[in-house]
Amino acid sequence: MHNLEVLEQTFAIIKPDAVKDGHTEAIIDLIEQSGFDILAEEHCTWTREQAEEFYDIHRNRPFFGELVEFMISGPIVLLVLAKENAVVDWRNLMGATNPAEAAKGTVRQLFGTSIGNNATHGSDSIENANREIGLFFPELV
Ligand code: RTP
Ligand code: MG
Repeated sequence: MHNLEVLEQTFAIIKPDAVKDGHTEAIIDLIEQSGFDILAEEHCTWTREQAEEFYDIHRNRPFFGELVEFMISGPIVLLVLAKENAVVDWRNLMGATNPAEAAKGTVRQLFGTSIGNNATHGSDSIENANREIGLFFPELV
């Protein structure tokens, strides 16, 4: 048994493209085989308000509108992952933002199809992981 109190947590999303293409189970298998514990899992479809709040940090970026439309376009899976170095290790397992540049065997190389449709999200810092987990699973932060 792991002691959850000392394990770092990160937030992951299986994005609408990967859910629609039937990759949910394969992605969850890869996550578990890579040593993460899944502390929470929720299947849902975001409202526009939820997507805009989650990606507030990107509000002024040129791709914000496209990103929000994509993230509300279908069902997604929210996950809280725990592991030593969970934030960095999940980013490494996902691979580069652009699937064309993602290393072989990474989630985005295997399941992403474009920079927008890149299969998964991962928190980019412990601070943002806590913010993102707190939005959906406040009991865990
Ligand atoms: P994420 O937040 O989803 O884990 O992705 P990331 O850190 O690797 O990339 P980030 O810069 O945070 O961008 C968030 C998401 O916006 C979409 N994007 N589209 N069209 C574009 O140039 C562009 N750039 C980013 C991607 O879906 C990216 O994951
Ligand atoms: Mg990001």
